[in-house]
Amino acid sequence: MRRLFALIALLPACVAAPDAPVGRPEVLGPEALPDLDPADDVVEYALEAEREPVELLPGVTTGMWTYNKMSPGPLLQANVGDLVRVHFTNNLDEPTTVHWHGMRIPAAMDGVVHGSVVAVEPGETFTYEFIAPEAGTFWYHPHVRAAYQVEAGLYGTFVVHEPEALRPDVDQDRLFVLDDIRLDDDGSISPHSTSGMDVMMGRAGNVLLVNGSSEAPRVDMVPGSVERWRLVNTANARTMKLRFPRLQVREIGGDGGLWPQDWTRTIDELVLPVGARAELEVRLAPGEDHGDLTQVVLVSNGNGGAMEDEVQGVRVRAPSQTLEPRGAAGYTADPVVVMPDADLDSPATHSIAFGGYTDNGQTILTMNGLAWPDFEDWSVQRGELVVFDVTNELMMEHPFHLHGQWFSVLSRDGDEAPELGLRDTVLVGGNETVRVASTFDNPGMWMVHCHILEHAEAGMMSMVEVVE
Ligand code: C2O
Ligand code: CU
Repeated sequence: MRRLFALIALLPACVAAPDAPVGRPEVLGPEALPDLDPADDVVEYALEAEREPVELLPGVTTGMWTYNKMSPGPLLQANVGDLVRVHFTNNLDEPTTVHWHGMRIPAAMDGVVHGSVVAVEPGETFTYEFIAPEAGTFWYHPHVRAAYQVEAGLYGTFVVHEPEALRPDVDQDRLFVLDDIRLDDDGSISPHSTSGMDVMMGRAGNVLLVNGSSEAPRVDMVPGSVERWRLVNTANARTMKLRFPRLQVREIGGDGGLWPQDWTRTIDELVLPVGARAELEVRLAPGEDHGDLTQVVLVSNGNGGAMEDEVQGVRVRAPSQTLEPRGAAGYTADPVVVMPDADLDSPATHSIAFGGYTDNGQTILTMNGLAWPDFEDWSVQRGELVVFDVTNELMMEHPFHLHGQWFSVLSRDGDEAPELGLRDTVLVGGNETVRVASTFDNPGMWMVHCHILEHAEAGMMSMVEVVE
């Protein structure tokens, strides 16, 4: 119930929009951070990492690591092409960085400690500065000891708005950050383990969170109105399987922003890998006065097996008074998306294998046989079209993530892949091979890794150099 009050309490401020950024639509969800620069094409933010108790469960506080005392951290926003300046201060007692997941920005601003890029030490401030290159829904998180720091609460979202003509005509734009966390009975974060199942499968939480709350947020939606929903999976390891009973949902974009009309499709289920984003156009199904976004989770069936259970993620309700919808058109733009020039038959010229072994009882996870900080020497020419295979030699799934570039997903075990558009993250199932293509147009040293953070920390990280 508290969730409901929190949303209502936000409304007057949103209507008056005292510091709503100029020319940017309002996004409801995590609290938006005020832009400190009055110029139209510059956004300037102050972000601070610090410990803070946060109420995840009703009436219980959890000692978290936060950005600006919030988890998820505040929503950052820019218009595409804006200069973004983020003054980041580390008030934790260990080094950290901020990585801008999915944004194709210069390598020196990517938050990965390598070469001349160092971590932000306790007490220090670092200013991240880049041009917001593309519109879309992105997120930010540390790239130092991420399995620990992200689980502790350090993650936030970043929306880069499309030019006016490409924006969907919707009654509301909302962002939902989907996460899970493992809490002990007293509400504290369960100790991390660096061996056993938590490393093998990644750390699964026992509490599902939507925008940092264990209670499903409630959305009031007038029948006949239409909304844009942005979903982000920030869990350490949990692939989110979502369903939409009594809602009419059209998938209109993903990691790389909104799609041409041709690619959009009506869905009743969505699999959102760790790190990935989805863009949805959402309506109440005709004749319905309520609907839900539900999360499919596996629970014990009492006989030593597992069965599916559906947990409420977002509750949509029609207001009690009958209101006329505004008649918004929804998503009608048809952007041109330049895809790598490759198809199902394109041969791969490189391959990356996810593997692993045990050494003295310790699980070591590898990419092409090497465990971070060792990694293979892989370089590509800037602008080169590269088709490569990501092969999983293990049973458990791995969300493959590439920094600084986007790729298209061509096939899964030789069959046409269901994933559309440009992506930075793709799920590779047990013993599966996913073929992808990228034009590698962003120069520098870039990470490629499994986004199950425990896997990454156990060695499943590598780099690719894009040379000019
Ligand atoms: Cu979201 Cu290398 O990370
Ligand atoms: Cu993995």
